[in-house]
Amino acid sequence: MCGIVGYIGKKPVYDILINGLKKLEYRGYDSTGVMIYNQKVLIKKSKGKVTDLESLFTNSEEKKGSVGIGHTRWATHGPPNTVNSHPHSSSSGEITIVHNGIIENYDSIKKILIKKGYKFQSDTDSEVLANLIEDVKKTKKVKLGKAVHYALKQVVGAYAVVIFDSSNPNEIVGARLGSPLAIGVGDSEYYFGSDATPFLEFTKRCIYLNDNEMFVVSLKKGLTLREIKMDSIVDPYIQELKQSIEEVEKGGYDHFMLKEIFEQPQSIIDTFRGRLISPKDPISISSIEKHFEVFKNANRIIFISCGTSWHSSLLAEYYFEELLRIPVEVEYASEFRYRNPIINKGDIVIPVSQSGETADTLAAIKLAKERGAFLYGICNVVGSSIARETHTGIYTHAGSEIGVASTKAFSCQISLLLLMALKLGEKLGTIEKTRYKRILAELNNLPKSIRKVLSKNNIIEDISKKFINSSNFLYLGRGYNFPIALEGALKLKEISYIHAEGYPAAEMKHGPIALIDEKMPVVVIATKKGSYHKVLSNVMEIKARGAEIIAIVSKNDTEIIDIADHVIEIPNCDELIAPILANIPLQLLSYHIANKKGCNVDQPRNLAKSVTVE
Ligand code: AGP
Ligand code: GLU
Repeated sequence: MCGIVGYIGKKPVYDILINGLKKLEYRGYDSTGVMIYNQKVLIKKSKGKVTDLESLFTNSEEKKGSVGIGHTRWATHGPPNTVNSHPHSSSSGEITIVHNGIIENYDSIKKILIKKGYKFQSDTDSEVLANLIEDVKKTKKVKLGKAVHYALKQVVGAYAVVIFDSSNPNEIVGARLGSPLAIGVGDSEYYFGSDATPFLEFTKRCIYLNDNEMFVVSLKKGLTLREIKMDSIVDPYIQELKQSIEEVEKGGYDHFMLKEIFEQPQSIIDTFRGRLISPKDPISISSIEKHFEVFKNANRIIFISCGTSWHSSLLAEYYFEELLRIPVEVEYASEFRYRNPIINKGDIVIPVSQSGETADTLAAIKLAKERGAFLYGICNVVGSSIARETHTGIYTHAGSEIGVASTKAFSCQISLLLLMALKLGEKLGTIEKTRYKRILAELNNLPKSIRKVLSKNNIIEDISKKFINSSNFLYLGRGYNFPIALEGALKLKEISYIHAEGYPAAEMKHGPIALIDEKMPVVVIATKKGSYHKVLSNVMEIKARGAEIIAIVSKNDTEIIDIADHVIEIPNCDELIAPILANIPLQLLSYHIANKKGCNVDQPRNLAKSVTVE
């Protein structure tokens, strides 16, 4: 994880680096640092946030310079402190590097370099790469570009790196393998970023580096892109970005998470745009139409993902099996990649990811690809690694999600997965026509229904006040609502640090019921239809044991409303739509509890938005 920024051109670099780092802080935020070149190299680093780094610049002279690189770290090797923060310099100070990823063979390289007399200041793997580049440059008597090329051939692991050499300050070199890196192309100037947000306000022209690519950017000669393994020149593909800068700012909300929760009606509209035109039109998903035969002949669908995206996948299992009658499996990407999975001809593997950069999901994709699976990717970030590594797929179009806890991306994933299942079910003839039409009409109305749920924000905030001192929570749901119980519990854990477990409601009696007493609040998702009456019995069992119950129910509920201590209503809807709506009060509940506890909602401790390490 971590965020990388950089700039080379004629503008003052300080603000570009600091503002860029603030935009990337969601990727890692335990320490930060910048290097600015102005006749000489100046490096400033700090434990903590970008604002801590800013306070180190007391003298405006220090801010001068038009070349620089910066980093916001999520530590993998060595604790988050000033010395371990990036940028890292080589022993002579000539080479400066910012690195995202892990150099797995850093220890053996470090030993060799120590024998050669190199000195190390930090515990990081990244400093080893800085010295390795310097060593190659000196022993082979080559320029920075060649030195980086040779050095990277010796490296095992993952990286996005941006490198500066003070002996040639008109040049910046960078490379990627496994961790993302983008170049913003301006007018005789270049920007660098882990994603495009640091330079969106300056240029919309962007090159996303592919794995095994490196670049040399020279103010005199322009940009050269090279494939590292083949050592061949690559023609850069410059994309015109459509994202606006407003999309990635808070827009009056206290936190990105709250903004993103409230953006959900619009995100769903964007997700459905051009796909669900009206309930009367057929659903239009070109990647399905183009590859329909693959779906028609599929023996099995395997979803691979992590965290919240894994919860979407689990709900997709319910949707796809119900509407397509094709067997579905759901795997944690991190388990799938290491357990020698069986992939048969006719298997479709569907990775689901917000960032499109999750290392475990990417590795699982590569494995499934090697074994002959057809890969249909679902991700949110356009141009991301997962989008590029899969055979085809679909974007969720939720918009930039900055809060580390995923909210709108999840809602868009599950809505889109339902839309896909409906389309496939209709084409395969496995869904009954009137049901298809009814669900489609409800999906068409989804943004409105979500607005109704969001209007309960004040009620939910009031409920949250009672629970800021709770230490544990249980979340229960059944059928389509079970994945939502898991997601509700994860959201609370992530941002409020309250321990929470999600369970299928009926499983409670097989163990977790032992935990229930008056100190264990229980959130029950008990929407109408499905197994409502079974869940009602579970609610009675909980009540009998003294727990405080927060119930998510359908409008005009007459039974649970009398038993639960707190009730949040969602509009009446089909049981396939209910989980999408029921999840929203749980997002708000977690947000308000965490906020009232004084937690850092957008950047919870120990987490990072995009998990680009194993
Ligand atoms: C979500 O709230 C989490 N922060 C996390 O579980 C996340 O969903 C997971 O890391 C997967 O990320 P991805 O969707 O970007 O692949
Ligand atoms: N492995 C490097 C470190 O620990 C980089 C981590 C990151 O990606 O932020 O400093």
